[in-house]
Amino acid sequence: MIAIAPAGGRDVAAIDALMRSSFAHAEEADLVRDLCIAGDMVLMLAARDEEADALVGAVAFSRMDVSVAGKPIPAVALAPIAVAPDHRDQGVGEALIQAGLDRLEQEGVVLCFVLGDPAFYARFGFDRDFARNFASPYAGDYLMALPLQGGLMPCGVRDHAHHAPAFARLSQS
Ligand SMILES: CC(C)(COP(=O)(O)OP(=O)(O)OC[C@H]1O[C@@H](n2cnc3c(N)ncnc32)[C@H](O)[C@@H]1OP(=O)(O)O)[C@@H](O)C(=O)NCCC(=O)NCCS
Repeated sequence: MIAIAPAGGRDVAAIDALMRSSFAHAEEADLVRDLCIAGDMVLMLAARDEEADALVGAVAFSRMDVSVAGKPIPAVALAPIAVAPDHRDQGVGEALIQAGLDRLEQEGVVLCFVLGDPAFYARFGFDRDFARNFASPYAGDYLMALPLQGGLMPCGVRDHAHHAPAFARLSQS
């Protein structure tokens, strides 16, 4: 049985190890660490195999600076996500993301951005049209957004969608 819940102190080392082993570079693990240090981590969910008492997946959502029509709106970035190789293709990644989106919607978040493969993220409703025209160094086909709050997109001129500063270090390394 896989249980999904906010990550706690006992998950920190396992999440770091999972991120380091899931990506070709250490950047994603460093991103998680830097987001936490900066206080920009909004939600980190851990998926645990209850029988094995082991972490099998994690997803991070971090604070963004997003403005529409000159007004800030509550928005987050989804990244990174990783699932342990022996637990992939069993719906753990999807369950982590959906659980995070549900919580964030309840907490009043209006938009969630993600930078990634549309083939994976489109299933949640992420669409590049929702991210279009926001000023962002990541603007393009891989920057997508998902309006929460019933799917309503804030009206008005899209100003900027800035990720937390830790992402700038990621893109430079
Ligand atoms: C991406 C990842 C988190 C998915 O986790 P998962 O638990 O296997 O995902 P699910 O079982 O919920 O969904 C599996 C689906 O995602 C698809 N998928 C997995 N990785 C994908 C990728 N990089 N691009 C596109 N689709 C992908 C699978 O093909 C499968 O598709 P299907 O449902 O149409 O058969 C996992 O493969 C992983 O940890 N990868 C290494 C780290 C990574 O690349 N993270 C994403 C970038 S931040």
